[in-house]
Amino acid sequence: MNTETIRTQFKDIFGVEADHTYFSPGRINLIGEHTDYNGGHVFPAAISLGTYGAARKRDDQVLRFYSGNFPEKGIIEVPLANLHFQEEHSWTNYPKGVLHFLEETGHTIDQGMDIYIYGTIPNGSGLSSSSSLELLMGVMAEDLFDLKLDRLDLVKIGKQTENDFIGVNSGIMDQFAIGMGADQRAIYLDTNTLDYELVPLDLQDAVIVIMNTNKRRELADSKYNERRAECEAALGALQSALNIQSLGDLDLWTFDQYSYLIKDEKQLKRARHAVLENQRTLEARKALEAGDLARFGRLMNASHVSLEHDYEVTGLELDTLVHTAWEQEGVLGARMIGAGFGGCAIALVKKEAVPAFEAAVGQRYKDVVGYAPSFYMAEVAGGSRVLD
Ligand code: GLA
Repeated sequence: MNTETIRTQFKDIFGVEADHTYFSPGRINLIGEHTDYNGGHVFPAAISLGTYGAARKRDDQVLRFYSGNFPEKGIIEVPLANLHFQEEHSWTNYPKGVLHFLEETGHTIDQGMDIYIYGTIPNGSGLSSSSSLELLMGVMAEDLFDLKLDRLDLVKIGKQTENDFIGVNSGIMDQFAIGMGADQRAIYLDTNTLDYELVPLDLQDAVIVIMNTNKRRELADSKYNERRAECEAALGALQSALNIQSLGDLDLWTFDQYSYLIKDEKQLKRARHAVLENQRTLEARKALEAGDLARFGRLMNASHVSLEHDYEVTGLELDTLVHTAWEQEGVLGARMIGAGFGGCAIALVKKEAVPAFEAAVGQRYKDVVGYAPSFYMAEVAGGSRVLD
């Protein structure tokens, strides 16, 4: 996909030239899973799969949206005065939510727009197509209406859209990674303070292979909220003796000393994941900076084990991919990423081993699950931006 193609597609649909074109990435997460709503650290990166867009300001007060991924839906028209969630507006609820919160925070959007989008992130793959779309809309509006916005404001508006407009109770990792991403950098973020660093991602002779289960994350939303609630209950139990604001405030030894306060077995497992995963993320960053990819890979493996047994968000598909990946030659580490229950996993694989790796993992997955997974090479790329 390039800007010429996206401009041509815009013109085919709307009959006029686009003012500008845009791109917003998807994201992977190296490590630090289900830690963002627990005040811990995450270590994601923006990728070159993402959402392309072209847009033009209109002279009236009407928004006209078209997605190249859902041509059967045609042009969806929304009056600017009606930025409320409406089921029948399907995917446009994401950009509508962003415009709604931009207005609510005092930014003026006083003209309609023609908007064409085309996403290269497989739908439902857990590479965060929804956050990608939210930030794309944010950057379009910022550019076309010359809004004075910090990037962090846009990131927060993306999260607010997800939480309060769409109704998914997610943390800030996805929007942050997508909004703040940089070429060949992973983002080491403290979700408690929002302090972050862009860490060079030098993988030496290895690459990150994304493995898609091709299973939609059906359970993800309800189980996601359940896990959040279990962590909050565990935090409440610890707060009876400890002055802490989140599970991310705990180091290993303090957790070890006070974990007896959590009486419920499930809550104890969830909290153990949140605390240890946060510590693994700190360690992983050090390993990456020291060039110790073998250690980095082992931490990825430990993360998956914890997500499988303590947090219980994996399932047959993700476990088959990851367990099979672990057995292959040239694999330094592998783990599920995102919310879980489907979606994608990643593996850190020596370049020369990739073809054999994909063949072996693909075959085993087909034998066990009954259909094929997909593989993509992750290219770590920049955050949401204007193209031309
Ligand atoms: C989803 C959410 C994120 C994060 C991950 C799990 O991707 O959107 O905020 O909680 O799950 O790490």
